[in-house]
Amino acid sequence: MIDEDYEYAATDLSAPEPTIIVIFGITGDLAKRYLLPSLYTLFKEGLIHPQTELVGVSRRPIDTEIVFDELRASVERAGKELDSAVIDQMRERAHGFQLDMDDPGGYDALHKELNRIEEAQGVCMNRLYYLSIPPSAYTNVIGHMGNSPLNGGCQHGKGQSRLLIEKPFGDDLASARKLIEITAQGFGEHQLFRIDHYLAKETAQNISTFRFENPLFETIWNNRHVASIDIVASEKIGVEGRGNFYEQQGALRDFIQNHLLQLLAVATMDQPERFDSDAVHAAKLQLLRSIRPISADKVSQQTRRGQYEGYKQEVGNPDSHVETYAQIETYIDTPRWQNVPVRIRTGKAMASKFTTVTFTFTDRDAEEPDLPNSNQLQFRIQPNEGIALNLLAKKPGFDHELQPVVMNFGYEGNFGSQPDAYERVLLDAIRGDQTLFASSDEVLAAWQIVDDVVHAWQQDGDGLISYEYETDIDSLGV
Ligand code: BG6
Repeated sequence: MIDEDYEYAATDLSAPEPTIIVIFGITGDLAKRYLLPSLYTLFKEGLIHPQTELVGVSRRPIDTEIVFDELRASVERAGKELDSAVIDQMRERAHGFQLDMDDPGGYDALHKELNRIEEAQGVCMNRLYYLSIPPSAYTNVIGHMGNSPLNGGCQHGKGQSRLLIEKPFGDDLASARKLIEITAQGFGEHQLFRIDHYLAKETAQNISTFRFENPLFETIWNNRHVASIDIVASEKIGVEGRGNFYEQQGALRDFIQNHLLQLLAVATMDQPERFDSDAVHAAKLQLLRSIRPISADKVSQQTRRGQYEGYKQEVGNPDSHVETYAQIETYIDTPRWQNVPVRIRTGKAMASKFTTVTFTFTDRDAEEPDLPNSNQLQFRIQPNEGIALNLLAKKPGFDHELQPVVMNFGYEGNFGSQPDAYERVLLDAIRGDQTLFASSDEVLAAWQIVDDVVHAWQQDGDGLISYEYETDIDSLGV
């Protein structure tokens, strides 16, 4: 039944507060490719306060002209309409700040600079720090920030300071715990916005709306009807110049521990008591903690890994056994999902790019062995975003012949274009809405599931299969 009293938290776009957005690593790839173009759109659409100020932090002296030339190029590359007045508006509000990230005095100086900007604006300003720096620098930078006044709010009012952090949050359970401890010494959980940009994809958000607002589906969302769950993220690209980073990561840590386990949580959690940040996090955490961790003695049975040909040369490490394809199989130990296998796979250098979440329903009594004998419900997270239901239909004619058909819902045809995930991430952090970010407990629960696999795979390359560029991901699955 639809619960009439079920509360959706209202999204308040009406009054975003004045904010100083501080981007650590302003000259880096992420800032140029994603953050600045997203901020551009938010400025252009008038979605953020007109008194928003930008501070770009870098180890080296910053030439803001170059940063903005690159922003122009990024906006054009992204196929967005270039409005020079908006770029000029951003340029007027931008400041460069050179910081030696190892020097505690530098953080105090940054704090003074933010106060100076605030004085000039004459209003209380929130501070939003975006760490677009190598993850290996997180503990150092967050530790220094926490020991400086940067973790406070504005000077004269109730303004907040917030910290936006990109994944990876640690390399395994132990290092994630340490990072979380250091972060907690300087920042409260309400100040932390750990980005999982998959959660901010419109299609991922719609999974819960679809489930909980259409009672038809909620009634079959359990092990009486669902035979298996598959989450697949196939990427066409290889590691693309991120070899150093990827050598520390691998597909399991880069994609499964975060994006795909979060998608699984959203797709299988119980209905949150309310649709607000606390209740959604509680429901996801409960689910993540119910996923059966893959223990060291089960790694060879429940996982599979591969590496594309040419990877070793690309990253300059002839001995590398880092996986570019990873697959895990596990179970969710709740009454709802008992005994339903969950398979999660991801790979780079595949034949096509797509991410899907698929529920396969229990078999009918199959008489025609050449026909698929199950119904499937598939969420297409990207591309061609939509939801498909596979059914069997009677083929027109005088015989009773069956044929698989698909009922297809596509976002584009129904709603047109969707906001970009990074626009959503930034806007939510500016507004202080944590719903689409990963909490400390969720991060730890997700590491717990794969921690033994991470360590087993680190030790040696046993069982690592080699595959060609443009392989069909299905051909690697078992
Ligand atoms: C990132 C991973 O988190 O997500 C990358 O580090 C991956 O390796 C990327 O390519 C995929 O994101 P999207 O939105 O392009 O599917």
